[in-house]
Amino acid sequence: MPPTPSRVELHPLTLSDQDEFCTLVQASSELHRPWMQLPATAQEFQAWMHRFDDGTNRGYLIRVRETGAAAGTVNINSIIRGRYQGASLGYAAFAPFAGHGYMTEGLASTLQHAFTDLRLHRLEANIQPANKASLAVVQRLGFRYEGVSPNYLYIDGAWRDHERWAITAPKPWTPDPSLPEV
Ligand SMILES: CC(C)(COP(=O)(O)OP(=O)(O)OC[C@H]1O[C@@H](n2cnc3c(N)ncnc32)[C@H](O)[C@@H]1OP(=O)(O)O)[C@@H](O)C(=O)NCCC(=O)NCCS
Repeated sequence: MPPTPSRVELHPLTLSDQDEFCTLVQASSELHRPWMQLPATAQEFQAWMHRFDDGTNRGYLIRVRETGAAAGTVNINSIIRGRYQGASLGYAAFAPFAGHGYMTEGLASTLQHAFTDLRLHRLEANIQPANKASLAVVQRLGFRYEGVSPNYLYIDGAWRDHERWAITAPKPWTPDPSLPEV
């Protein structure tokens, strides 16, 4: 049977998404707390957008194809080339659309984009052990558990332990020209 087409698509986040993004973040504060802090005001959003200036981080909205609604957001953060060719993912659903499988589909599209268009070789997701919804998503997507990083990220006022989950590009994989030949 052919695979079911995805119900969502990735759109690079732009300055014109500001009002929609901030409204959805404000509506999602209970869902995001204490795991994720996203810009909720115009000023915060504009400052946040600078992280995408030099290509080290990339930001996207996950939009439902049928309606165009933004179901969530994903970042491909800290892209490192050379012998690493990896990055780490940050993501959040927007509350009106959580629990429908849109994030799993949107992150599957993100993996596809990262491994083929960006030619990355490895993606990590670093997740607090109590964040069951996030752990469920990466397990559905085939990430493997690599261990615990103590005091890994400063979240909600303290350094938090995180579980490190990762996935590498399926074969055949076309390397980025920045990968050394030997
Ligand atoms: C982690 C997070 C992004 C997961 O979002 P989500 O909406 O639960 O993820 P999905 O869209 O993939 O939905 C999965 C749920 O939808 C259900 N579902 C409903 N219809 C579905 C469908 N057609 N296909 C797949 N799943 C479906 C699944 O069964 C699953 O529910 P379950 O976990 O109770 O079994 C969200 O909880 C969130 O934003 N948390 C706060 C921010 C955060 O923690 N970010 C990550 C930091 S590491």
